[in-house]
Amino acid sequence: MNKMGLDIAVIGATGAVGEVFMRVAFERNFPVRNLRLLASARSAGKQMKYGDEVLTVLETNEQALEGVDLVFCSASSEVSKVWGPWCRERKIIMIDDGSAFRMDEDVPLVIPEVNASDLDTHNWIISIPNCTTTPLVMALDALRQVSSIKRVTTATYQAVSGTGAAAVAELISQNTFLSEGSDVPKPEVYPVQIAQNVLPHVDDFKEGGFTKEELKMRNETRKILHEDDLRFAATCVRVPVLYGHSEVVHVEFSSEISLVDLGKALSSQDGLVYDDDQTNYVTPLEAADRDETFVSRLRVDPSVENGVVFWCVSDNLRKGAATNAIQIAESLLERGILSES
Ligand code: A2P
Repeated sequence: MNKMGLDIAVIGATGAVGEVFMRVAFERNFPVRNLRLLASARSAGKQMKYGDEVLTVLETNEQALEGVDLVFCSASSEVSKVWGPWCRERKIIMIDDGSAFRMDEDVPLVIPEVNASDLDTHNWIISIPNCTTTPLVMALDALRQVSSIKRVTTATYQAVSGTGAAAVAELISQNTFLSEGSDVPKPEVYPVQIAQNVLPHVDDFKEGGFTKEELKMRNETRKILHEDDLRFAATCVRVPVLYGHSEVVHVEFSSEISLVDLGKALSSQDGLVYDDDQTNYVTPLEAADRDETFVSRLRVDPSVENGVVFWCVSDNLRKGAATNAIQIAESLLERGILSES
């Protein structure tokens, strides 16, 4: 760890995103002076590595958080709702991976490549978008440079790691039972078996038959793009993939567009890799452990006027969560909102 830098606490350090957060912070040489790994009381005493250093996990409490410069939280909405206001009262910035505060007016919801300037009006809590929203918005932000967007529809193919470490374990265990020819035990994380299956059901059902995940995608996309009236509908689907979310996205523009112009706009978006060979594509396996969002199979949608459809993939634990959080912290340093001591 560095002599100069930030004192950081990670709430949820033992979780699927928490572990990746530490890996990404180390890889990017983020200026960490002290790192406190926090989780529930169940994990207190557990040892985890940050680079070569072995750190001991502590129970999340006031004493463990006292004096830090920055908190990263990826636990549950209930946990965020306890520690977010606590940080705000003490003027400590909390970057929150959960949905608890995302739609609050005074909480910036940020993808640094798209709306880093929203950080300037922070009120101590900063939210990361949902892991399906981030790749979608990166692509839409590039495309709207060519023509304004009238309507977006999308279907997602979401990895189980988006649900958390318990869901990863459940899929692996169900696969093992199936490969041994045994009956799969009653699922504990998902309502039905996920192995060899596809569930058109991510998060709770809400108004109009949409799920909370689908509404999150719509509302967050509108907020980040500052396009409150964007016409939008999503269907979110859980698939038996461990890492990497994929999306099919249909976009309608308000004026005539060309694939060449759209391709140029996608290629010039930071953090996005676009392949203009329409027969190539990137799969979740190839996107896993990468920070970029990959767009491929861009083609004209002949069923509407001025429409296209494309395939988009990213690592949900990296750009969808941990990498985006570190990039937000880097932006806070660049913008002088946070400083090393
Ligand atoms: P623990 O491992 O001790 O249960 P995931 O998203 O992979 O399910 O991980 C959730 C993370 O949130 C884990 O690190 C988990 O810790 C942590 N967590 C759960 N409950 C609490 C709590 N009450 N306070 C702090 N962290 C919590």
